[in-house]
Amino acid sequence: MIQVSYVSRANKPMSAEQLLVLLMQCRDNNSAQGVTGMLLYGNGTFLQAIEGEEPVIDGLVDKIWADRRHADIKLLSRRRITRREYADWTMAFERVSDEGLWNVEGLVSFAARDFNYDYLVGHQPVVAALMDRYREPHYDQLIGEINAKDKVIEHLKAALAQVRDRAQVTRLALESLTEAGRKGECTDELLGMCEAIIASVRPR
Ligand SMILES: Cc1cc2nc3c(=O)[nH]c(=O)nc-3n(C[C@H](O)[C@H](O)[C@H](O)COP(=O)(O)O)c2cc1C
Repeated sequence: MIQVSYVSRANKPMSAEQLLVLLMQCRDNNSAQGVTGMLLYGNGTFLQAIEGEEPVIDGLVDKIWADRRHADIKLLSRRRITRREYADWTMAFERVSDEGLWNVEGLVSFAARDFNYDYLVGHQPVVAALMDRYREPHYDQLIGEINAKDKVIEHLKAALAQVRDRAQVTRLALESLTEAGRKGECTDELLGMCEAIIASVRPR
């Protein structure tokens, strides 16, 4: 998979309706093609990141680059990724506003009016902070917490499965010992297995 990000200038200021048309187009196409990403718009400037399988992204980049709604496309990065950074978004979108920027970590003195082509092209750390806003788990604290809980639950499930496995083997060992003891036929082999089981269930 690859991820591509760029900034560009809108050819005309985009109305809310034009942005909506664009966003619907992105979401329809992207969900059909397994593309995820984010798109920010403000002051006639787009900042976008798209990610997915390489041939799909290369094809989409050709289309986007040729789109007459924007120009002066400045590629910021094209890199290989092993997992999606915007997995939950067929295209996260926001019109940049001062309120929207309040909670963005790393943007201390950045305001909505600074969201413009020249500023973004010259300030990579600002771009990185803006892009980070939609990366999991920053965007939604609740999703972050659910993900964290999911991890704990996964861990507990694995621990439980291990306890169950050990209980089954321990029970079988006890049954074997009981049977062999009743018959007075306890072999070295059985005792060896029981010792190995005791060693494996001993708390570390
Ligand atoms: C700033 C910007 C971002 C875009 N992002 C996407 C996108 O993520 N996915 C997409 O399919 N089209 C995107 N487009 C639209 C494409 O340039 C193109 O119009 C569209 O993919 C054509 O879709 P169609 O082949 O279904 O007509 C974007 C256009 C602009 C101006």
